[in-house]
Amino acid sequence: RHGLLAYDPGYRSTASCKSAITFVDGDAGILAYRGYPIEQLAEKSRFLEVAYLLMFGELPSAAEEATFREAVCQHNLLHEQVISFYRGFRRDAHPMAVMVAVVGALSAFYHDDMDIRDPEQRLNAAIRLVAKMPMIAAASYTYSIGRPLRYPRNEYDYAGNFMQMLFGMPNKDFVLDPVQARAMDRILILHADHEQNASTSTVRMAASSGANPFACIAAGIASLWGPAHGGANEEVVKMLIDIGSPENIPKAIARAKDKGDSFRLMGFGHRLYKNFDPRARVIQESAREVLAHLGLENDPLMAVALELEQIALRDEYFIERKLYPNVDFYSGILLRAMGIPTKMFTAVFAVARTVGWVSQWLELHNDPTHGIDRPRQLYVGPRLRDYPHR
Ligand code: SDX
Repeated sequence: RHGLLAYDPGYRSTASCKSAITFVDGDAGILAYRGYPIEQLAEKSRFLEVAYLLMFGELPSAAEEATFREAVCQHNLLHEQVISFYRGFRRDAHPMAVMVAVVGALSAFYHDDMDIRDPEQRLNAAIRLVAKMPMIAAASYTYSIGRPLRYPRNEYDYAGNFMQMLFGMPNKDFVLDPVQARAMDRILILHADHEQNASTSTVRMAASSGANPFACIAAGIASLWGPAHGGANEEVVKMLIDIGSPENIPKAIARAKDKGDSFRLMGFGHRLYKNFDPRARVIQESAREVLAHLGLENDPLMAVALELEQIALRDEYFIERKLYPNVDFYSGILLRAMGIPTKMFTAVFAVARTVGWVSQWLELHNDPTHGIDRPRQLYVGPRLRDYPHR
């Protein structure tokens, strides 16, 4: 079973592609990047090491990791003319709208990395995208609140650099909290890849036509934005705030079960996991750790989330349908505790998932047997008929 594609007739799904990157066994609640269980990587690794693993297939030696980190540091600035794009947006533009546009626009700048037939250009484009996403995301936030743009500082690691660009101020020194930086690094690891989810499939579909890497990743960002996918972490926090306190949980559970009500428990259920999403457990633990570190042990949202999980997991409706908390259920609580605004949650997800998207993009182009994806349909429209005489 392990290593074979789990086929679930319930979804009538068939393999859309071959991939050696991420393995998920939804029934057993297993997630592994290149064979390494996500729990071990989240505990022992760092995001850039995981990025190398996903992109190249093996954990890097110290020298390989140093070279990779140097390449990322070399490419983590945005072209000043790309920065000027931000001024064209309304201040209240959603960060994902900005990121779709800015990442797509990189196609207009990096012409020397767009020949997908050239392995070196492919790798350069992949590294540029991984390197620039933190500044692209951070700039979409600072611009929205009128705070001066921050540039990467290479004395920080990847997660720390992202946080100093998000929160640094020109009129005072930025002090990086190591506990929160570690939590951010872990969030990035947990969200880096997840086999053929909607946004990754979007990237592969675009890639299969030969579209340039920047356009492919922009398509992935657009797909991730959906509330049933990457946008769920934002919806979870809104839901928990709406519920407000544990006594309102039974009403929310009743609404989630009511077929006549479109309300769903955001952060619950998953196309693949019919068991606990292994990422949810790690993020729940990280959220507890950061909340305690910040003296927020009694965070009301965490209290509602923990109680909601307990009640739902004892409810026949959720048990029958094998609905468990997924990666999004606790991530919003953790990000919110770290001072990240709700509308930036999916942007953080996009920064992390860019590594998975470029890894799968590279894999597709490195596989000469890969042709254009051209799914067929089950036609259920009118039979062939003649145009009426009028
Ligand atoms: C991500 O694919 C990936 O890998 C995605 C992701 C990644 O890393 O890329 O893991 C990230 O997108 C996680 C999922 C985040 N989305 C949410 O949390 C939104 C809430 N969840 C649901 O919308 C839903 O669970 C899905 C879309 C995520 C999965 O849908 P399923 O498992 O295929 O379930 P379904 O839509 O076929 O429904 C099966 C039944 C239905 O009831 P019945 O018609 O059988 O009576 O379960 C019910 C659904 O109504 N159901 C829910 C529910 N999810 C499913 N009921 C209430 N609340 C929910 N959250």
